[in-house]
Amino acid sequence: MPRIIIREDQGPMEIKIGGESKWLCRCGLSKNQPWCDGSHKKTLDEQPGKLYHYSADGTRREVQQP
Ligand code: FES
Repeated sequence: MPRIIIREDQGPMEIKIGGESKWLCRCGLSKNQPWCDGSHKKTLDEQPGKLYHYSADGTRREVQQP
């Protein structure tokens, strides 16, 4: 069942596992969850106050808010 989840983070969070850096995805766009794959770069030109929808192929469109 599809669902909508709103994410505002535009970059990963670093964690240390056994002294090694790992990067957790916080944007929700990574195809390698829970790890960052660099897809968050698509969000860097988002404008404050706007809402965006990303389709499975990574295409972005702005959503009109009520
Ligand atoms: S934080 Fe989501 S892909 Fe990098």
